[in-house]
Amino acid sequence: MRRHHSTTPRMARILGSLLLVAAAGAFTVAATPASKPAATPLDQVVPVPASVTPGGSPYRITHEARIRVPDTRAARQVGAYLADLLRPSTGYPLPVTTRGPADIQLRLQPGKFGAEGYRLDSGHGGVTITASAPAGLFHGVQTLRQLLPASVEKKSVQPGPWLVAGGTVQDTPRFAYRGAMLDVSRHFFTVDQVKRYIDELALYKFNELHLHLSDDQGWRIAIDSWPRLATYGGSTQVGGGTGGHYTKADYQEIVRYAASRYLEVVPEIDMPGHTNAALASYAELNCDGVAPSLYTGTEVGFSSLCVPKQITYDFVDDVIRELAALTPGRYLHIGGDEAHSTSHADYVAFMDKVQPIVAKYSKTVIGWHQLTGATPAKGALAQYWGLDDTSAEEKAQVAKAAQNGTGLILSPADRLYLDMKYTEDTPLGQDWAGLVEVRRSYDWDPGTYLAGVPGSAVRGVEAPLWTETITKSADIEYMAFPRVAGVAELGWSPAATHDWDAYKVRLAAQGPRWEARGMAYYRSPQVPWTD
Ligand code: ACM
Repeated sequence: MRRHHSTTPRMARILGSLLLVAAAGAFTVAATPASKPAATPLDQVVPVPASVTPGGSPYRITHEARIRVPDTRAARQVGAYLADLLRPSTGYPLPVTTRGPADIQLRLQPGKFGAEGYRLDSGHGGVTITASAPAGLFHGVQTLRQLLPASVEKKSVQPGPWLVAGGTVQDTPRFAYRGAMLDVSRHFFTVDQVKRYIDELALYKFNELHLHLSDDQGWRIAIDSWPRLATYGGSTQVGGGTGGHYTKADYQEIVRYAASRYLEVVPEIDMPGHTNAALASYAELNCDGVAPSLYTGTEVGFSSLCVPKQITYDFVDDVIRELAALTPGRYLHIGGDEAHSTSHADYVAFMDKVQPIVAKYSKTVIGWHQLTGATPAKGALAQYWGLDDTSAEEKAQVAKAAQNGTGLILSPADRLYLDMKYTEDTPLGQDWAGLVEVRRSYDWDPGTYLAGVPGSAVRGVEAPLWTETITKSADIEYMAFPRVAGVAELGWSPAATHDWDAYKVRLAAQGPRWEARGMAYYRSPQVPWTD
């Protein structure tokens, strides 16, 4: 085995701290050869894997390690992603190769592991991740990453050792839809800020990124046939800043980056309410032909597209056509929430006309659960954002739609809304759905949450982050972490593994990882942080 022999500044620092420890009289505790570094147990991962069989010697990544991948473009990219993750902190070269011996191997084996599942086998000689699709390899890489010390996340060379516990992890998701939503309308976030959040979500095996691209306060995506939507409708935000919008190239860059992390982008154009930015940009979209002013407050429910006018559907067709063309993902979210300025009859008529437009451009409709008060299109998904104390009638309406074939994405606002304050003292966020501490967010079962909903109707969970009070990446992180990790676990891990007391320990171990990545997070007193 080849080793570095030169004394690096890092080694000098380590030596220095050992001497300090010795001077403090603690040398035998700190340096006894018996205190072998322990590898993270295979089940200390978030989301917890479906099945774990520990055993055998750990694998230790060394300077000689190579990463062998199947010779497909996607697999090579996952290998390159893994190498990029490991190189800065290990300082090892970690070449990615498609042939020859290698102690880190990614393998594709058709069939057995499904669209996103994988198996990780670790032992003295190395670690192998086997999957049936590149997404499974990618998720397996996230597990491998969490089995390594938190310092692997750092961008400078760390001492290691880089041990992976011996044994086997067999893993596959409970739900196909595991999403997070970012509201880029109330405050605009740059492409780089969105990429940063994508990277944070990928660590927890999320696979859907819902972008709330339009609302009263801002229109954030360039539409060539209606250019003022972005240039004027996107020119401000809550509180009156300059706002912003994504060019088509920007949006495609986000879509590509998300795809490289195995997240599908779900774009949302919220309609017929939440449309002041569009109505302000084009007078002809208003029933009275008069454009309202841009809006920088935080009220909801005051705007509506003009349901009787034909131009409304020309507009919707153009927007959906252009957005669908930019979006390789299956879904197009049409909003439909809080249409308080649209009559019920108009709302139903609007959804009857707009859903076929989505289908015409080969996308599947997602709408907030108010869509179930109209007639959801065949195959449409409804996103439930009610509370424990939402009326029985409203819940029954959603359950009835689910019984009739509408799939559900669960985003209960008093559990999964990441903009809700944790406690009264949380400096950011809102509290209209209540205070949502980490345990409350995690401790429920999506499979049995809504009475009368067949289990097969629940397609998964999504954690929305509304940004009335959120203006920067540190804000996103502080509100999302730790809660979003629990959402990931609700979406991925088998119901039988659900256990707050076990979860909180695994969650606590994520803190040093977030710190190593330079992320902000909320140090909830419910979590037994170790550092
Ligand atoms: C929503 O929170 N209005 C979906």
